[in-house]
Amino acid sequence: MAAIIIVGAQWGDEGKGKATDILGGKVDYVVKPNGGNNAGHTVVVGGEKYELKLLPAGVLSENATPVLGNGVVINLEALFEEIDGLEARGANASRLRISSNAHLVTPYHQTLDRVQERFLGKRAIGTTGRGIGPTYADKVARVGIRVQDLFDESILRQKIESALDVKNQMLVKMYNRKAIEVEEIMDYFLGYADRVKPMVIDVEQELNAALDRGEHVLMEGGQATMLDVDHGTYPFVTSSNPTAGGACVGSGVGPTKITASLGIVKAYTTRVGAGPFPTELFDKWGDYLQETGGEVGVNTGRKRRCGWYDSVIARYAARVNGFTDYFLTKLDVLTGIGEIPICVAYDVDGERFDEMPLTQSQFHHAEPIFETMPAWDEDITGCTTFEELPQRAKDYVLRLEELSGAPISYIGVGPGRDQTITRHNVMKR
Ligand code: GDP
Ligand code: IMO
Ligand code: MG
Repeated sequence: MAAIIIVGAQWGDEGKGKATDILGGKVDYVVKPNGGNNAGHTVVVGGEKYELKLLPAGVLSENATPVLGNGVVINLEALFEEIDGLEARGANASRLRISSNAHLVTPYHQTLDRVQERFLGKRAIGTTGRGIGPTYADKVARVGIRVQDLFDESILRQKIESALDVKNQMLVKMYNRKAIEVEEIMDYFLGYADRVKPMVIDVEQELNAALDRGEHVLMEGGQATMLDVDHGTYPFVTSSNPTAGGACVGSGVGPTKITASLGIVKAYTTRVGAGPFPTELFDKWGDYLQETGGEVGVNTGRKRRCGWYDSVIARYAARVNGFTDYFLTKLDVLTGIGEIPICVAYDVDGERFDEMPLTQSQFHHAEPIFETMPAWDEDITGCTTFEELPQRAKDYVLRLEELSGAPISYIGVGPGRDQTITRHNVMKR
């Protein structure tokens, strides 16, 4: 039995989709425990590129059952668009299973996300505009709509009526928008109900029974540690817990069942949306990483902000998530750049911080303290073992390992499924 959690160690887009895809071939279930269609994972299989937003990347693995856990917020329109798109390309999404407790994103959540961002003006979070924050807010406020509500039309109507009583006041009186009719939302949901129902299961029971039978479960967190609503750069975060603990909550698998916690970390750093980012580059190297790394958001098409590797964040992520291993991605992007700076600590108004500062204000003032290492010039995209890497690439990886709080067990040297070096197998932890 193995229960592995995959977690983004930075601000997202570390290559979680690729990591899931590689391990997905060896597991029985791939579960998405949090987030919604704010995620964007690019997976390259046999030269074919797939872009997934709501479905876990495990949907591309032939034998794994993909699952949306209770912690996910589901936009049904986006879900079926994605399923239809994949099936048109020959992929098989018929095994998908969905938790009855997952919450549903409604059209009014999407409207609220956009108008609230507009109201924030200069202080906007830079959300994906997919209604994720307002849907999680309703979940916590106990006025959300869940997948299981589709099974009972009168309950569904009651819940939509009471939600709209309040939402329409906000939309009309605060945001100067049109009120939304109950029937509009009923029709929207009922239009999908028959297609969703056969997929709905008790995810907690299914996964725990599978683990008891000795099967393997992989949980693919969306977003990342620094976007976690508790542990990230609040308020510039998403509204769920993409950290390892959140994967347990979002799937119903208890922490004592987890056998490995795998942090996905890029060989440099990127961020989409607003918020502090100590190692961000504003010079030609920022453009270089953005262009060479193809750093454009899958979901919103925004250019990703780019910076050097930040080991303070890596150590923090290793602690918060109890990482047993790291998967270092995009090492190939650093080939031939001369020197590679690595952030080892911060200078905050003249004081050195080796670990995360206590407050948001201090983090906003954090200036990176760098050490540098020489880069390699050899093409590494065909390397299949650690030994084959040029000495300087090996040295860079080993230095990151020393600084980052967990062993680097996998190294990505290109976007393809087979462009990965395995040093330790997480399935055997
Ligand atoms: P996710 O959101 O964490 O799944 O990551 P994204 O898919 O949004 O962004 C990661 C990008 O990096 C994708 O375009 C991947 O195809 C690509 N990628 C992943 N690993 C590697 C790697 O080792 N090298 C290169 N060059 N690209 C990679
Ligand atoms: P993956 O899974 C990168 C960011 C948004 C914004 C903040 C809040 O591909 O790594 P939200 O719409 O969630 O309320 O936006 O979080 N964000 C991501 N950034 N990758 C993601 O997902 C993200 N999901 C949300 O840009 O700053
Ligand atoms: Mg992404």
